[in-house]
Amino acid sequence: MHELLDSTLLMLSGKFGQRITVVKEYDHTLPRVPAYPAELNQVWTNLIDNAVAAMQAGDGKGTLTVRTARENDRLLVEFGDTGTGIPPEVRDRVFDPFFTTKPVGEGTGLGLDISWRIVVNKHHGTLRFDSEPGDTRFQVLLPLTAPAPDDTSEESA
Ligand SMILES: Nc1ncnc2c1ncn2[C@@H]1O[C@H](COP(=O)(O)OP(=O)(O)OP(=O)(O)O)[C@@H](O)[C@H]1O
Ligand SMILES: [Mg+2]
Repeated sequence: MHELLDSTLLMLSGKFGQRITVVKEYDHTLPRVPAYPAELNQVWTNLIDNAVAAMQAGDGKGTLTVRTARENDRLLVEFGDTGTGIPPEVRDRVFDPFFTTKPVGEGTGLGLDISWRIVVNKHHGTLRFDSEPGDTRFQVLLPLTAPAPDDTSEESA
């Protein structure tokens, strides 16, 4: 997971510029988890992209904190940003397809919809957030073990 996060961060390093600091808080005692790396790379990219946009919408400065931890029988990957935050009136809609607060031509509003499908449907995980101005955290929780083989979900691959 940490290799995957590092490679996504490296891929996106051009986006951060001088004004965004990246802090990694990895729990190196975590075990490997079963996952689809290409799809998770897409999730990390979407979440980091949103975090950077929220910080650039403020004064342009900020800190992106990528944290991993164990939470009971799940792996937590958290992306924290010091950006504008998600206003209460839009909190129920951020995962809706095509919901965006970005100017026309800048966002399609699909990033979180796609991320939801990858995390929840494909990985049987959880995607959630906590947000206040200056402190927004998107959290992905992934099961530490693969789902049972008799799992009947149509999304399991
Ligand atoms: N970290 C964040 N801080 C503040 N607002 C956020 C954050 N992440 C998401 N949002 C809000 O949720 C909306 C939807 O996010 P989503 O990633 O689905 O679409 P988008 O970023 O607008 O467009 P796209 O991802 O398709 O380029 C954003 O337009 C923004 O209003
Ligand atoms: Mg987005």
